Amino acid sequence: MKRPKRITTHVLQEMKLKGEKISMLTSYDYSMSKIVDQAGIDIILVGDSASNVMAGHETTLPITLDQMIYHASSVVRAIETCLVVVDLPFGTYQGNSKLALASAIRIMKESGAHAVKLEGGKEIKESIDRILSAGIPVMGHLGLTPQSIYKFGTYVVRAREEEEAARLQEDALVLEESGCFGIVLEKIPAHLATQVAESVKIPVIGIGAGGGVDGQVLVIHDLLGITQEFNPRFLRRYNNLYEEIKGSVQNYIRDVKSRDFPNEKEQY
Ligand code: KIV
Repeated sequence: MKRPKRITTHVLQEMKLKGEKISMLTSYDYSMSKIVDQAGIDIILVGDSASNVMAGHETTLPITLDQMIYHASSVVRAIETCLVVVDLPFGTYQGNSKLALASAIRIMKESGAHAVKLEGGKEIKESIDRILSAGIPVMGHLGLTPQSIYKFGTYVVRAREEEEAARLQEDALVLEESGCFGIVLEKIPAHLATQVAESVKIPVIGIGAGGGVDGQVLVIHDLLGITQEFNPRFLRRYNNLYEEIKGSVQNYIRDVKSRDFPNEKEQY
């Protein structure tokens, strides 16, 4: 399919129907998002993983709504074509659908993003319904949901047991029936993710969920090899920017110290 002028939720739906895989990556700032959009990505996720890779927190819990809006508005200024989805951060939608709507409206109004993503199934249905009633597209997120890390206690693969797998399948149907335009499935067995993707009509995007889903998402710092300590089996690194950036910085330091930089041509 020729890349449309704008990727919309309808375009994503068509891609699923035609069997064309959807590409999604996180991005959190202007310069990176410009490259990612120009490279042809379908969706940029302004993930709350910004809490980890941009701010250095151990979990995604500390990032605030104001910080997510700052990241999202930087991304929106950079893009021309892709769809921008923004995570509602922890504490801005759970257990309070009025607050959920107010948080989603702030993201849409103040950043210019196109959709929001929420973690959870049945238990957040009221919040999802309320946000959708305002005409804001919602993406779900099931499986390993990092905002619940203190409930899980670990980042291991979810839904290996029948009971949790059945619950996840039910939740996917709830999200679809509510009107979500897509679902992210994180770190669950590939066969389960494939079953979910086949049982719903909306696109299912996987991270650590195998190749039987409708698309893939990764954290851009992991794909580029900027993060080093995070090495899950599902991650494919396309670069080693940690070493490349470190090498460039070392070369710069060397040139400054040796008075090689700046040379005659590099001054006025
Ligand atoms: O915040 C994030 O980066 C995410 C992806 C891992 C799906 O939610």
